[in-house]
Amino acid sequence: MWTEYITATSTEQAVRMLAEKGTKARIVAGATDLILELERGVRTGTETLIDITRIPGIDRITMDEDGVIHLGPLVTHNHVAASKLLREKAYPLARASWEVGAPQIRNRGTVAGNLITGSPANDTITPLMALDAWLTLQSSRGERKVKLQDFYTGVRKTVLAADEMLVDIAFKGLDATQHGTFVKVALRRAQAISVINLAIILTLDSATVKQAVITLGAVAPKIIHATEAESYLSGKTLTDEVIAKAAELTRDASRPIDDIRSSADYRREMVKVFTARGLKSLRDGQEQAGMPDDPITLMGTSHSTGANGFSGAHHTEGSVIQTRINGRDYTFTSGFEKTLLRLLREDAGLIGTKEGCAEGECGACTVFLDGTAVMACMVPAPRAHGAEIVTVEGLANGEQLHPVQEAFIQDGAVQCGYCSPGFLMSAAKLLEERSKPTKNEIEQAITGNLCRCTGYYKIVQAIEDASNKLET
Ligand SMILES: Cc1cc2nc3c(=O)[nH]c(=O)nc-3n(C[C@H](O)[C@H](O)[C@H](O)COP(=O)(O)OP(=O)(O)OC[C@H]3O[C@@H](n4cnc5c(N)ncnc54)[C@H](O)[C@@H]3O)c2cc1C
Ligand code: FES
Ligand code: FES
Repeated sequence: MWTEYITATSTEQAVRMLAEKGTKARIVAGATDLILELERGVRTGTETLIDITRIPGIDRITMDEDGVIHLGPLVTHNHVAASKLLREKAYPLARASWEVGAPQIRNRGTVAGNLITGSPANDTITPLMALDAWLTLQSSRGERKVKLQDFYTGVRKTVLAADEMLVDIAFKGLDATQHGTFVKVALRRAQAISVINLAIILTLDSATVKQAVITLGAVAPKIIHATEAESYLSGKTLTDEVIAKAAELTRDASRPIDDIRSSADYRREMVKVFTARGLKSLRDGQEQAGMPDDPITLMGTSHSTGANGFSGAHHTEGSVIQTRINGRDYTFTSGFEKTLLRLLREDAGLIGTKEGCAEGECGACTVFLDGTAVMACMVPAPRAHGAEIVTVEGLANGEQLHPVQEAFIQDGAVQCGYCSPGFLMSAAKLLEERSKPTKNEIEQAITGNLCRCTGYYKIVQAIEDASNKLET
């Protein structure tokens, strides 16, 4: 898929490499979009990947003295969803990130990558557009700031030049008079692309709307503002009639297409319905309902970025990948052009980790990478260099099975068993994160794992039983 893989240790190095390699190189962050684009042949001509995941300090969310919030390029969706600061100052973004994929995808997928892929259905563009965000792009030619509004030139097309790296996402945090929400409509609750999504931010003077911002995703080639609805709401109180009219105006702003997920008519109607619901939830102070206060991330308690002490790497055909899997050192001289899943199965002979879809959808390939649950099919193999990996083979402590393994056996939470390694890994990471999870938290933890034959009742029961066993 790639012929050269450079793991950068500083932004300056990444930018220098981009300048040197030209259009044949691309930055890779979480790889959850890029691997699929390369495998499906959507992105041709890419030979060199420049991995930025080992650059220290660029995964931070901060607020400066002017109340401007900054997201580094390695801030993942789970960082955003778990951030108390963003929950308070940018709830629409926190909600959108929490709605992305499943925990294993959110642990690798970055907001920066989401913005750059630039699909009009991508979830974080809509709230960041409503927040009037701006981006800082760095190249060896210097730095420039671009408003997110001006970043897109069409479907998946941006003004990012081949030699530029996105180094900062910034926006003003919401103040006490501002309230916002994000609504996603999809064909199911996890691992689903938006049929439509929308963000609403209202500035209120007691019950009167001083200013309204409504942005819409997946209803036009780019994220759009419902400008007539925004103007209409200004100076109004949110009565049922006003909300109904604003919802109609928002619907009229949308220009959706028919596609495999929905007809254009359905999309238009959903824009109306969910704009009304969003406005009502804001009026009633219920906009945060449905999102847990402390979402399950499967990040683990001892995760690291893998940046500490990492001195950089340059992989081409035949280069060595040195890694630690299940507490044992491995040296590979093959497989650098593969995914981590294939490296584990084909080169390490660790076939417990399964391939169900190879597209990040099924969770059968879940492993721990530097302490965090990820989909191994979405990780480039060279990312394993200098990393610590745990697969299902490493879950037991010698002869002593992990409590989730015992519970799966006792409860008969297995039929064909193909999905089981992935479920076991998610469950084990959940219990590390929360020793006594609620049923809802168990369900959140396994949203990225599909089982086609056991059914989920026994699996959930087994995880509950394992947690009870850990308690005693
Ligand atoms: C199973 C699955 C479910 C998903 N569900 C959703 C969903 O519900 N909602 C949603 O919006 N998306 C979803 N996605 C898409 C994807 O996870 C997100 O878009 C993610 O945020 C991409 O981030 P990344 O770090 O993985 O990007 P990467 O794949 O690493 O990169 C994406 C693009 O951005 C470029 N890039 C990344 N960082 C930089 C940078 N700092 N500077 C310059 N270029 C950069 C890369 O070169 C590439 O072109 C899903 C993907 C999968 C596989
Ligand atoms: S999620 Fe990796 S194989 Fe399905
Ligand atoms: S046990 Fe067969 S897919 Fe889950």
